[in-house]
Amino acid sequence: MNLKRHFIFANAAAVVIPLVMTAVFALVFLFISSNFKSPWFSFEDYQTLSETQIELLYIKQDILKQSPDVIKSPEFIKELQTRLSAINGEFIVLQGEQVLFNSHNLSKIDVAKSLDAVNSHVGNASVKLGNMTYRIHSVKLSLAEGVSGYVLLLVPIDPSALNDVTRFLILIGIIFTLSFVLTNVFASYRFTRRTLSPLNHLKKAAGEISSGNLDYPIVEEGDLEIQELCRDLELMRLKLKDSIHTQLKFEENRKMLISSISHDLKTPITSIKGYVEGLRDGVANTPEKHDRYLQTIYAQAKLVDQMIEDLLLYAKLDLKQLPFDFERTDIEDYLYEFVLENEPACTQNGIELSFQSSLIQHTQILLDQNRFRRVLMNILDNSKKYIQKNSLGEKGEINISLRDTQSSIIIELMDNGPGISKDDLPYIFDRFYRSDRSRGKIKGSGLGLAIAKQIVEGHNGIIWAVSKNQEGTRILISLSKF
Ligand SMILES: Nc1ncnc2c1ncn2[C@@H]1O[C@H](COP(=O)(O)OP(=O)(O)OP(=O)(O)O)[C@@H](O)[C@H]1O
Ligand SMILES: [Mg+2]
Repeated sequence: MNLKRHFIFANAAAVVIPLVMTAVFALVFLFISSNFKSPWFSFEDYQTLSETQIELLYIKQDILKQSPDVIKSPEFIKELQTRLSAINGEFIVLQGEQVLFNSHNLSKIDVAKSLDAVNSHVGNASVKLGNMTYRIHSVKLSLAEGVSGYVLLLVPIDPSALNDVTRFLILIGIIFTLSFVLTNVFASYRFTRRTLSPLNHLKKAAGEISSGNLDYPIVEEGDLEIQELCRDLELMRLKLKDSIHTQLKFEENRKMLISSISHDLKTPITSIKGYVEGLRDGVANTPEKHDRYLQTIYAQAKLVDQMIEDLLLYAKLDLKQLPFDFERTDIEDYLYEFVLENEPACTQNGIELSFQSSLIQHTQILLDQNRFRRVLMNILDNSKKYIQKNSLGEKGEINISLRDTQSSIIIELMDNGPGISKDDLPYIFDRFYRSDRSRGKIKGSGLGLAIAKQIVEGHNGIIWAVSKNQEGTRILISLSKF
């Protein structure tokens, strides 16, 4: 329930519930009193009082309905006598100040007392006649003679019945007040439970978060608006936690990057330093030796250069600082061209490079052609590199194939090299990861596949490897169709 509805409902309930409870109580009370005798409330008395009042009202109406002069007719007097005696009442009929008729039970003194009571009171007077008390109701009529006529109706009042009614009304008042207080206490309790306690929990959570405890969960509770607030704050907490986690990861990565770079650069630089010292100290004393030293220095310097270039590229890709220049590209033509470009170098190394496509029609995809060439080159270089050093004597073969699914194209680069062990396979796309076998003699920094992965992901694609030791390697790339 939302906060607004909750407020309206609580306020309405605080009024309606006490009213309903009081009404139910009154009905039950009257029912019990009418069926069982109660020492302090007589339903019969109350009933008689109500019936007398109602009959009196009818009599008054009937008098007023008739012509005023009817009060002089004996039939009227007779009927009045009958009706009033049914409720133990008496009457006096006056023309001006002259008494025309009065009921049989009234003596002259009673009439005089009644007239005196009427004259000295404003509104309904009451008079005590014998041991009975009467309330006098006066009906005024204009008679034909131009004088006023009066019918005074004397109705007995029972003080005990009046007391019963008063007691009943007080009881009803108490019940209403009690149920009103109870309903309000209940409404306040519910309000506290549904609104204030969630707010208190939120306050506690905010305190925990601001003091750095980002694992303190915020539970959705309370009314709709408060639940929404909890949800937003929980999202904020998760994002904050995530960003701090990423920050820590970046920090960790940075440290790892520095240590890996220093380690990987150290080897070729130490080697360069050694050969330069050899030259300077005259160790390379023959022109051949001199030449070999210089060539080694050049090769190592090239390696450092390549490593730095790869590193810069990887860092930029990692920080998403390199914009991609996507173009609509016919993937089959693009791969065919790549194979043509690289075939001679492979043949020179004794490796057969082939290409098959199972696409039925020309398929366009969005490609940053230059960067994607880097992906293919890195994979092809790996195949060339690892086939040569580990081949079991059979001819090296690299096959590039292209197929498609309903929504994407799949490029597969397969070689018949030494394969990758299942221990290394999960890590080959991590930066600086090189299998122990590769670390030996094969040059490289372990960035080739990490760069390939960054670029493929920049194309919203997926790259993965399938390989077994001694069973060749398959690198697969899936890209969405345009
Ligand atoms: N075709 C393959 N055959 C066998 N092992 C492979 C092949 N491709 C990759 N690997 C393994 O995966 C590791 C990571 O490859 P990656 O291209 O990232 O690094 P690298 O080739 O060692 O160095 P770089 O590419 O930076 O010169 C390699 O060291 C190698 O162990
Ligand atoms: Mg490589």
